[in-house]
Amino acid sequence: MMPFIDLATQRERLKDKLDTTISKIISEGRYVLGPEVGELEERLAAFGQVDHALTCANGTDALSLPLLAWELQPGDAVFVPSFTFAATAEVVALLGATPVFVDIDPDTYCMCPKSLAKAIAWTKSQTELKLRVVIAVDLFGQPADYPAISAICKAEGLKLIADSAQGFGCTLNGKHPAAWADISSISFYPAKPLGCYGDGGAVVTRDPNLAGLIKSLRNHGEGEARYSYERIGLNSRLDTLQAGILLAKLDIFSEEITARNTAAQAYAKGFGDVVKTPKVIDGGVSVWAQYTIEVDDRDTFRSKLNEAGVPTAIYYPVPIHLQDPYAGFPVAPGGLPVTETASPRVVSLPMDSYLEGERQETVIRAVRAALT
Ligand SMILES: Cc1ncc(COP(=O)(O)O)c(C=O)c1O
Repeated sequence: MMPFIDLATQRERLKDKLDTTISKIISEGRYVLGPEVGELEERLAAFGQVDHALTCANGTDALSLPLLAWELQPGDAVFVPSFTFAATAEVVALLGATPVFVDIDPDTYCMCPKSLAKAIAWTKSQTELKLRVVIAVDLFGQPADYPAISAICKAEGLKLIADSAQGFGCTLNGKHPAAWADISSISFYPAKPLGCYGDGGAVVTRDPNLAGLIKSLRNHGEGEARYSYERIGLNSRLDTLQAGILLAKLDIFSEEITARNTAAQAYAKGFGDVVKTPKVIDGGVSVWAQYTIEVDDRDTFRSKLNEAGVPTAIYYPVPIHLQDPYAGFPVAPGGLPVTETASPRVVSLPMDSYLEGERQETVIRAVRAALT
């Protein structure tokens, strides 16, 4: 069976650099918030076209930190898609606030601005709920419709988070999500397009005040003086080893994004005539965290691919609003028909920066054989 995500080829490519970095960091002994962390933050800010980047322990904390900075509380409504990883809604519920679930666009799988507008109108009629934040997700690595979503946020006085856990590096009309969003939240989980060798996360933002608050919050709410605290925070720091590993990977990240786009084009050319392939928003460049297609009989399709030695995965089999812990939270008026239609049909194929040649041909042949 071929790998679903090939991390080994990249590891081999960067072996010397990674080995040198890792042994340097271990021998220097500054394991938490060492110099590589600051260097990585500068490089991430430059890559994301903003002035401020702060690393943290994982992509989930990267979502919690701005919500803590904005002092989210019970009664606050946060608009989130349901077709996403649990963390997007989890961070809201964990703070005692209310996730309001919004439908997605059927082509891009990202938040639908029309459904968002309907959800906002309904929430305004609920006296116990206050409009606070929208979390748009760059699902599967492609940018959400930020021009439309940020216009709604501005008109309604809502903060906007780009949950770019899967999407760091994606652009829309040449700009990164943080050009529209108040903040962009990133995950460096190993399988992500820019992944480390453990857990890791970061935020990037144009807003110096928000960056200052998050710098304090990620380290227990510390103040200027050591062991003085200005707020209640978290222990959410990136360790120096992960920062060193990410610095090595960031050097080749642009090249890898191009390779992922080449692989996505080869898939579309290879089987776009027999199955629904993903469509990126006009002007958008995806980083292809996942390559997701839609089929009628998913179980049969998956077992045929499995027999051909091609692994597949389902992102996501059950939308969040239909899972027990989230079933009591509101959904946009009219429900989430696009989300509920997509989830039994979607299936993701192998995708990474080193997908080419015979390995990709094998996937294309298997998809065609299973569907024709
Ligand atoms: C959309 C989305 N948001 C948030 C997260 C959370 O990131 P982490 O696993 O680094 O906490 C993920 C991770 O898979 C994700 O896909």
